[in-house]
Amino acid sequence: MTTLAELIASASGLQDCANWRALETHRQSVGDLHSSALLDEPGRYEALSRGACGLVLDYSRHLLSEETIGLLLQLAEERQLAAWIESLLSGARVNNTEDRPALHTALRRDAGRPLVVDGEDVMPLVHAEREKFLTFAEAVRSGVHTGATGERITDVVNIGIGGSDLGLVMLDSALAEYRDPAVRLHFVSNIDGTQLADVLDQVRPETTLFIICSKSFKTIETQLNADAARQWFLERMPAAAIGSHFAAISVNAEAMDRFGIGNNLRFKIWDWVGGRYSLWSAVGLSVAIGIGADNFRELLAGAASMDDHFESAPFADNLPVLLGLLGVWQQNFLATASHAVLPYDQRLRYFPAFLQQLEMESNGKGVTRDGQPVDYATGTVIWGEPGSNAQHSFFQLLHQGNARVSLDFIAPVVASSRYADQHLQGLGNMLAQAEAFARGYPAEAVAADLSAAGRSEADVARLAAHKAHPGNRSVSVLLMDQLGPRSLGALVALYEHKVFVQSVIWGINPFDQWGVELGKGLAVQMSVALAGDDHAVLPGIANLIRRRR
Ligand code: F6P
Repeated sequence: MTTLAELIASASGLQDCANWRALETHRQSVGDLHSSALLDEPGRYEALSRGACGLVLDYSRHLLSEETIGLLLQLAEERQLAAWIESLLSGARVNNTEDRPALHTALRRDAGRPLVVDGEDVMPLVHAEREKFLTFAEAVRSGVHTGATGERITDVVNIGIGGSDLGLVMLDSALAEYRDPAVRLHFVSNIDGTQLADVLDQVRPETTLFIICSKSFKTIETQLNADAARQWFLERMPAAAIGSHFAAISVNAEAMDRFGIGNNLRFKIWDWVGGRYSLWSAVGLSVAIGIGADNFRELLAGAASMDDHFESAPFADNLPVLLGLLGVWQQNFLATASHAVLPYDQRLRYFPAFLQQLEMESNGKGVTRDGQPVDYATGTVIWGEPGSNAQHSFFQLLHQGNARVSLDFIAPVVASSRYADQHLQGLGNMLAQAEAFARGYPAEAVAADLSAAGRSEADVARLAAHKAHPGNRSVSVLLMDQLGPRSLGALVALYEHKVFVQSVIWGINPFDQWGVELGKGLAVQMSVALAGDDHAVLPGIANLIRRRR
């Protein structure tokens, strides 16, 4: 068994890999291919689609052949992906720059399966905290936990940002059908105060539970919003009421003490959970209150099933491995620097924003695990909107513009609402777009169609080029059986592991995020400067600062 130190030591040198070089050569032969012809090859769908955990990934609309997939899979072997997966799941310190494991998979692991890290089984801790926050969630839902005046909690305000917000907003929207309408969830993340003001205008202190969600309990946005919420509360309620109306999730017990969070309303997370991977922990409390403990357990079970699949399925059938390798192919060999995520279900509208942090904060790195600069593309620019809104907004550029963008289409097969006919229309639109992006519409076909429609030769000559679609866009279609807690858990875990797979290929650490620190430090200085301290004014920013003073 290769040790973690040996894995880290071999993280650089991607471009020296035999299969990387083979892919570079192979890429030349793909230059002449067109998806339109590829899609007509018999058996292509069977060869280039796989299913697991209630999800089906169809990657037949990529500009690649089975040989390409073979080379990518060999590259994964050469990059020792199996040993890396084993290291991740067994609790080795895969976050080498912060010297920690990355154990988000423990958070959804069956409590009866021990996981020994540094000589200690972490599962009893995980299990105890899981039971504690899910029991509290049920107490809020059932009215056993009330506000200080004895009134039921009707509004829950989660105050957190980044990984302490985005996943929760996404889950809350996606699982709307499972939500208890008697408790409204609100999410406050942004620093400027408008979001907080808008929420506070809608709630009553007697019936509101605030959840301060911050792994570090040091994040400035969360601190400002939490302090302002507490002040608002204390202007209306006695100080003793804080104990019933403010809960918190953090690793920072002292800060929770200082804030006045009572022992029964504080929940632990651990250093070994990255913020963007933390929704499975007590960080998910607000969502657990919304959907209930049983549904939250289903979410965890769905993710755990994807973990098992990731651990045990052969790479050729392994969804996260395939999705990760497809991204490498698009990005490193087809020069695609931008990736759109397009869910055809309005309830998944926050999924692209969630993935932005997951993928871009994880893999937006410019040095390898041992600090060597990389000279190939790493983390992709991720963005997206739900279809079919997106069709009427930016699809024009994707179809006919010259920026190369790859696409993930995602949809549940079963309708998420009672409007099943409309769901079918949405699904039809998604499949039509997937075909159009891949096959395109060549100028000759446009010309023939225009002639057949009776247009003059001059019109045909004038319009054919404008109406032509080049096609050949890289498209994945991801179908889920139904949008529910279990399938959503599997979907989120799929993308988490995709990110890990790519990090292994690229030789980078996906679990740190030093890149967000520089701006945080400067923000403190800017605030001081805006408050009137001339010593803090940097030359380049002086004119802007003076406009505010
Ligand atoms: O600034 C980025 C970040 O550190 C994220 O990684 C994290 O999810 C977010 O801030 C919030 O951090 P915390 O939960 O510690 O408030």
